[in-house]
Amino acid sequence: MSVIVFGSLNTDLCYQVRELPRAGETISALNFEVFNGGKGANQAISSARSGAKTAMVGTIGRDAYGQDHVNSMDGEGIDTSYIQHASKPTGIANIYIDQHGENNIVLNAGANSVTNAAQLAKYPLSADDICVFQMEVNHQEIVKAIKHAKSKGARTILNLAPAPDDFVDGLFDDIDYLILNEGEAEKVYTYLSKDTSLPDSYAQAHFIAKHLNTNCIVTLGGEGVFAVTTDQNEHKATPLSLKPQDIVDTTGAGDAFTGAFSSALYNQYDLSAALQFAAIAGSLACLKLGAQSSYPNKDEILAKLQDVNKAA
Ligand code: RIB
Repeated sequence: MSVIVFGSLNTDLCYQVRELPRAGETISALNFEVFNGGKGANQAISSARSGAKTAMVGTIGRDAYGQDHVNSMDGEGIDTSYIQHASKPTGIANIYIDQHGENNIVLNAGANSVTNAAQLAKYPLSADDICVFQMEVNHQEIVKAIKHAKSKGARTILNLAPAPDDFVDGLFDDIDYLILNEGEAEKVYTYLSKDTSLPDSYAQAHFIAKHLNTNCIVTLGGEGVFAVTTDQNEHKATPLSLKPQDIVDTTGAGDAFTGAFSSALYNQYDLSAALQFAAIAGSLACLKLGAQSSYPNKDEILAKLQDVNKAA
């Protein structure tokens, strides 16, 4: 049994700035650092660190950035044998982070653009496995990979980030858990319902869960997270209450959530417990600069969980 993450690996070039630059403006960074990132790689690191046997399926360039990913994942005990090399360079994300921890990201997909479902087909998938997908590799290949995972009986999780403007056919056909932020939920709701007058996030999630016959999870940032199950039941979890001055960088907090949620399912948590575990991982990921560099391990999450339970 494993969590298998199919997705992107990027190198994040992170610039801390006072305010995000406006069009035509040149500004100086307060600080600059380079981290391993990419939504797929982030989710794999979060999954492994929070307690699941994890494998990564993706593509890197034949460059030092790509090798850094493999070294770091090997160090976390992640199976990297399904990462292929391409002639294109490892994906790059230029990330600007302001003093409130908010960010803007410009991506160059590079090697991620050749990641394909045949790579996942080489993995000996079984019904015990959990496959995790996001949207930073070719969308047709994501659909094929999801279908393959389902044909082997694996559970499937799709984190629809970044949300495209249009959805490829079949994207939602075989998804057990669809993880959305508020903006992504609005896009999916509008696409499915053709209704431009948006109801609240809860009504959207009920509609999405019913329409797609999936468990729909919506993350609300500092407001927490909720899920609507296929039978229309609601589950909620609260994040840590963070002081604005403690939030350093929200980059990759959603990936920390998705990875920890996958790991919680791997560890056979029920849905409410998995949401709470993942919500804490997402909160802790906001306290340090960078994505993977900020992710907590299982003990850190469980310690905070105890504090939350004591306070309740
Ligand atoms: O979700 C955060 C990630 O998005 C970053 O690590 C960056 O690489 C972009 O893919």
